[in-house]
Amino acid sequence: MNTGADYSRGTTQATEPGEVRNVTPGHGLTVLGLETSCDETAAAVVRLSDDGVEVLSSVIHSQIDAHAAYGGVVPEIAARSHVEMIDAVTRQAMKAAGLGFEALDGVAATAGPGLVGGVMVGLSYGKAVALARDLPLMAVNHLEGHAVSARLGAETRYPFLLLLVSGGHCQLLEVRGIGDMSRLGTTIDDAAGEAFDKIAKAMGLGYPGGPALEKLAASGDGSRFDLPRALLGRKDCDFSFSGLKTAASRLAQTCETEQDRADLADAVQKAIARQLAERTERAMLAYAEVHTERLFVVAGGVAANQTVRRTLEDLAARHGFRFLAPPMVYCTDNAAMIALAGAERLEKGLVSNIDVIARPRWPLDEARASADPVHKKSGRKGAKA
Ligand code: KG4
Ligand code: ZN
Repeated sequence: MNTGADYSRGTTQATEPGEVRNVTPGHGLTVLGLETSCDETAAAVVRLSDDGVEVLSSVIHSQIDAHAAYGGVVPEIAARSHVEMIDAVTRQAMKAAGLGFEALDGVAATAGPGLVGGVMVGLSYGKAVALARDLPLMAVNHLEGHAVSARLGAETRYPFLLLLVSGGHCQLLEVRGIGDMSRLGTTIDDAAGEAFDKIAKAMGLGYPGGPALEKLAASGDGSRFDLPRALLGRKDCDFSFSGLKTAASRLAQTCETEQDRADLADAVQKAIARQLAERTERAMLAYAEVHTERLFVVAGGVAANQTVRRTLEDLAARHGFRFLAPPMVYCTDNAAMIALAGAERLEKGLVSNIDVIARPRWPLDEARASADPVHKKSGRKGAKA
């Protein structure tokens, strides 16, 4: 099928076939993964075998250029672009892997959480491939993909403590294995990346704001700003960034010089890093009571921030945790992580029905999410994931 895909409206990145990295017992499963939950149309082929995890191809088409003018992701534009790109991106991934569809053992697609119009595109496409080729379908939770993403880049054995920090999510998870994860904390309002993006927007920086704010902060000294510290007295591992966002946005109005703006950017970055570290420290103390193997993984786009990374690395060292962050290409949204989660699910026999639905909200740890009154299924305070 020729979709008339227009690559000029975004950027497409393809990763060459990777080396075998992870030693995991398995029987050699080759899985196509599809990711369309936000503003990246991605497809990847991953092989899970006795020799480990091998990324045969990973293609990511970013829509950032199409959304930049609006200062954020526009769901309708995203969904339309996924429709236009999904077939071409998938074919490119299959070609780069050097495989035909008959070589696949299964198809995995993100089924939520995310912008539902986009999720439906990837999931429907995955169902079509599964039906046409008589393959098992694995509906993958996007967060589960991020949770396994470290296994794409380095040998990473379960269990581990995970901090997932992206534009849509901010969670601490105890990851014991595929389909076996508990949430230790989540945000009660914005995600950390969302805070970076919204504050950057208030400061007149471009989209996505996180990288722009980090660049500006490099020449700043935020010590003269006293930004609020949320939920300090609480003992849980939840996050809140809305107070910081409001305070920083107000301060942005008072900045007169470029140096003022750089100082504010530095203060914001350090405040976000500090909150991430404070909650992660609580989670580490709880985790260390149960596990002797201490591995801490940070994943998601915000893990690209050097201040955040250094702060967390220091924290891990202080508490005797080994620190691991996936390579950037697997930190931000990609389909290799979805394919790997799908392959691990297939290995365990966790296959989905073909009528599985796309879910805009889908907590990874459903028991914890519904037991916690702060995170109702709907309403202003409903956690996005
Ligand atoms: O994981 P990701 O690509 O997509 C989501 O699943 O959300 O994360 C994107 C988020 C954006 O909010 C972006 O501003 C943030 O990660 N981000 C950063 C940096 N690079 C990306 N935030 C702070 N500093 C950075 N260098
Ligand atoms: Zn993501």
